[in-house]
Amino acid sequence: MAIPHYQLLTHITKFQTNLSTSSRRTKSNFTVRMSLKEDAPSLAIVGVTGAVGQEFLQVLSDRDFPYKSIKMLASKKSAGKKQVFEDKEYVIEELKDESFDGVDIALFSAGGSISKKFGPIAVNRGSIVIDNSSAFRMDDNVPLVIPEVNPDAMSHIKLYSGKGALIANPNCSTIICLMAATPIHRHSKVIRMVVSTYQAASGAGAAAMEELKLQTHEVLEGKPLTCNIFKEQYAFNLFSHNAPILPNGYNEEEMKLVKETRKIWNDHNVKVTATCIRVPVMRAHAESVNLQLEKPLDEDTAREILGKAAGVFIIDDRVSNNFPTPLKVSNKDDVAVGRIRQDLSQDGKHGLDIFVCGDQIRKGAALNAIQIAELLL
Ligand SMILES: NC(=O)c1ccc[n+]([C@@H]2O[C@H](COP(=O)([O-])OP(=O)(O)OC[C@H]3O[C@@H](n4cnc5c(N)ncnc54)[C@H](OP(=O)(O)O)[C@@H]3O)[C@@H](O)[C@H]2O)c1
Repeated sequence: MAIPHYQLLTHITKFQTNLSTSSRRTKSNFTVRMSLKEDAPSLAIVGVTGAVGQEFLQVLSDRDFPYKSIKMLASKKSAGKKQVFEDKEYVIEELKDESFDGVDIALFSAGGSISKKFGPIAVNRGSIVIDNSSAFRMDDNVPLVIPEVNPDAMSHIKLYSGKGALIANPNCSTIICLMAATPIHRHSKVIRMVVSTYQAASGAGAAAMEELKLQTHEVLEGKPLTCNIFKEQYAFNLFSHNAPILPNGYNEEEMKLVKETRKIWNDHNVKVTATCIRVPVMRAHAESVNLQLEKPLDEDTAREILGKAAGVFIIDDRVSNNFPTPLKVSNKDDVAVGRIRQDLSQDGKHGLDIFVCGDQIRKGAALNAIQIAELLL
């Protein structure tokens, strides 16, 4: 029997994910030469000096992503600085309109305003833009893609067609949540989802990670606190996500989970509610996810489904109380799921609770974007 296109893709993605995890940071000069190819796409990285930009470089290298050339782009402040990548020294250039001439794929991670301004410029110059900001995610004409979940949403976009296009990377919390919730949803439709997040400093960029480090020293040494990124003490504390609060009482991060889930699942009826919290963890987000299902699903079947899902692994040892943590997934490609259990508050096995952890700079941003680029190839 022929393997359906989607399943084949899932198998390939799972294989690639495993391969990259095992081969990470053990690259030889041989594999470096394999990545530099004359017939491969020209790349540009917008925001290369940032937390996500630096991870783009790591992921490109880990996955031997083929490229003919790479432009390293950032703000005027970084122009002229050196960036070493795969044994070669590059000079960082200031982002300008002409930066995209001859660029096949542009990976953007410099914030929403930069994407809004330069994304359309890059598209007009023929580049396919894969954007990490929220600028275009809810635009009906822009696919919002998690390669393991909805690769078909971008099937109309072709590399080397001479036509530029935009593809949006979902919000990091949405990606991590849906990596675990989608395999369950495919088996037994999710009709309502309640998400509570525990989000790391890295989600707010390189400067927020520095602030957490600095504040930790300051608290321990009894010094006055530096609060440049967050308005209140972050070390040894937690607070509601720093995204602006909307008139409906939700913050923007929470509404991203609501709206993006509907778009990615192409299900405008699924009910989603979220509470997003910033916790003093350096890297990788955790999420408690409660699912209400249309059809009953027992927890053993749920465990089996999650065990086979691409890009997901299970840590669920009740005897030794061993479950996912941010540290266990930091620098890892796959999302960890544990605490898999029936929700006792729902009748007839219609509810499931899971706890999910994922490296949001990696699968929540850079890796997901590069998997999108791999789909283009
Ligand atoms: N961190 C995450 O986990 C995560 C996850 C998903 C999506 N995102 C999104 O990815 C984007 C970047 O996040 P980040 O965490 O990497 O932030 P970051 O560490 O603060 O980095 C920001 C990057 O943007 C560049 N930049 C700023 N102004 C610029 C300008 N005028 N022209 C060109 N480049 C400019 C910076 O360059 P300079 O160093 O020269 O200033 C830097 O490279 C944001 O849209 C964020 O929402 C982040």
